[in-house]
Amino acid sequence: MTDASPTSAATRRVAVVTGAGSGIGRASVELFAARGHDVVAVDLSAPGLADLADIDHVVTVVGDVSEEAVNKEAVAVALEEFGRVDTVILNAGIGGTPALESSGAMDKADHIIGVNLRGPIHGLRASISALKETRGSAVFTASVAGLRGDPGNWAYNATKGALINLVRAFAVDYASAGVRINALAPGLTRSGITVDVTGDPALLSRIERRIPLGRFAEPDEQAEAIWFLSSPAASYITGTTLVVDGGLDANLGILPLPGQSW
Ligand SMILES: NC(=O)c1ccc[n+]([C@@H]2O[C@H](COP(=O)([O-])OP(=O)(O)OC[C@H]3O[C@@H](n4cnc5c(N)ncnc54)[C@H](O)[C@@H]3O)[C@@H](O)[C@H]2O)c1
Repeated sequence: MTDASPTSAATRRVAVVTGAGSGIGRASVELFAARGHDVVAVDLSAPGLADLADIDHVVTVVGDVSEEAVNKEAVAVALEEFGRVDTVILNAGIGGTPALESSGAMDKADHIIGVNLRGPIHGLRASISALKETRGSAVFTASVAGLRGDPGNWAYNATKGALINLVRAFAVDYASAGVRINALAPGLTRSGITVDVTGDPALLSRIERRIPLGRFAEPDEQAEAIWFLSSPAASYITGTTLVVDGGLDANLGILPLPGQSW
């Protein structure tokens, strides 16, 4: 079953997408707009948003999601321009975990926590009353890195793991108000955050060997999962994390995959 895409102004649904300038967020803006939503696209990078502003029914907000005011502004723009908010996609995120024992490690970790964890909390705080009005939904972009640890990635692992439990807590709090709250856990996806890997063919091929489907995801494959979670097709789904990782998390990883040798 697919969501019935609204066609008239009276029935158009409205999405707010953070981290909209690149990768998964950009693909989500394009998908939701193509399927009849009005979209507020939020990003720190004005150049990242520039061409999105040319899409019909998309308006942009430049700002840092770790700031409460930016999240409030995005929702205010959605209400002023489009009159409602049906879906918030709290997707902006950064890597860059410092070595635990390095100088300045806590400042860098605080920055990651500010964007990856405080940002989405601000995002839901800013939008929850509008979501109650529409009995809408929120999708938080977590990560497979929130399900397990990986070397040298403790701050990112911690924020993404926290998001997975945060959606459980928020889902419980807001189910009675008719608001569904879920997370997406992408696996490795071609985007700005993975460009160092995808731009290095030898490294890319070594990493792809560890993924059962044998490749990175495209951002639009993640956007489709976000679309599903936010759509009426997911009307009984709340408090869960949808893992979209080509089988990465399903594999214990001890033995070579079929067709591979040691
Ligand atoms: N690409 C992957 O392999 C992968 C895997 C798992 C999870 N994720 C998560 O997916 C989400 C989207 O990342 P992506 O892969 O599309 O990467 P990306 O780098 O292509 O896009 C992230 C966007 O967020 C914006 N951004 C960064 N900090 C911001 C801030 N403080 N305020 C507003 N915008 C900000 C960036 O400018 C960029 O446009 C992130 O939360 C990331 O952690 C990505």
